[in-house]
Amino acid sequence: MTIPVSTDVDATSWLSGELAQLEHDGLRRRQRTITPRPNGECEVDGRRRVNFASNDYLGLALDLRLQEAARRVIAEQGVGAGASALVTGRTELHERLESRISQFEGTDATLLFPSGYAANVGTIPALVGRGDVVFSDALNHASLIDGCRLSRATVCVYPHADVETLAAGMEQHRSAQRRLIVTDGVFSMDGDLAPLRELCHLAEQQDAMILVDEAHGTGVLGEAGRGACELTGVESTRVIRVGTLSKAIGALGGFVTGTQELVDYLWNSARTQVFSTSLPPAICAAACAAFDVIQQEPERRELLFSRIRQLRAHLEGAGVLCSSSEATPILPVIIGDPERVVNVAASLETEGFLVAAIRPPTVPVGTSRLRISLSAAHTESAVDRLAEALLQGDLFRAGQVTP
Ligand SMILES: Cc1ncc(COP(=O)(O)O)c(C=O)c1O
Repeated sequence: MTIPVSTDVDATSWLSGELAQLEHDGLRRRQRTITPRPNGECEVDGRRRVNFASNDYLGLALDLRLQEAARRVIAEQGVGAGASALVTGRTELHERLESRISQFEGTDATLLFPSGYAANVGTIPALVGRGDVVFSDALNHASLIDGCRLSRATVCVYPHADVETLAAGMEQHRSAQRRLIVTDGVFSMDGDLAPLRELCHLAEQQDAMILVDEAHGTGVLGEAGRGACELTGVESTRVIRVGTLSKAIGALGGFVTGTQELVDYLWNSARTQVFSTSLPPAICAAACAAFDVIQQEPERRELLFSRIRQLRAHLEGAGVLCSSSEATPILPVIIGDPERVVNVAASLETEGFLVAAIRPPTVPVGTSRLRISLSAAHTESAVDRLAEALLQGDLFRAGQVTP
């Protein structure tokens, strides 16, 4: 029997209405094509720009040593892993990367995921479920939020970095079987640090688990570059550390690092790694090479921090306070109105700088912003020129930006 297909009723006609609404609200995103270039630059629509919108904090994504490591493995093993890690997708390169990360992090074991997003979305529901409670910072990354939602645990969102309110909420839920605090280490759109010492102390007092997302800390913060936990001295086995290989590491993939027991458990239960094809082996080789470079060349981190200090000095000198927090490579400039932030980013682009215009739902309504991310690959002169463009344009005139 053939089912008649109606041609006059279009079940997806609502899509155009949704797009028109996004357009009206100044929230419609359009796809762009970018070609990465050396020195923290890129080409956009054939025009050269300095890229202040990437998370390649150490300039490793284009590093020849990473390229060569990947190239060698592609020549021998091809491109795709072909199956999930549990089936046949865990090669010797995956095993080597797991060990390399554990060695770098000073942990017993590491589990790889296809991305940092997948690491959070897979790990949280493996740790808590119905009847449990997860406490989540209001400014956490979408992957933590989605992990909380998927877990079916009760989700208590606490105001950003507000340990007192969190403590009161935890006390209220003392009788829950399992309780988990989840937080970004470095907040991705604000660049500030979570109060990790206080959070860990609270987790200990309350005998709760704590998960820290080190996406923007790995390779960047701390004496050895292990991240926000290292910087704040909270690397105990109680803290479940999630990282990504896609930012300072310059590759792709996510990981959870900690005790062997934790990794054995997640290997069996984190659905985003059980039911997803493992990373391409060549990516694992490139990530291994990146950890070598990070350990051998601490001067890259020093260079990054000198660029951060340079831009902060310009902005602070002009009375635009970036953040009261510890310096990180993410500098937000809050503008407020989504349309205005898009216009400012567009005018910066005509001056040669690619800066991300961040709007809701990525950030709360009324806090649309420029998100400037710095890299060791940026030249001193590029950072000076960006500061000049920011400060001499109309951005900071007439009190349009609230410091
Ligand atoms: C805080 C945070 N966690 C996780 C992720 C996801 O990492 P990935 O890009 O590797 O999926 C991001 C990336 O945007 C992030 O900013």
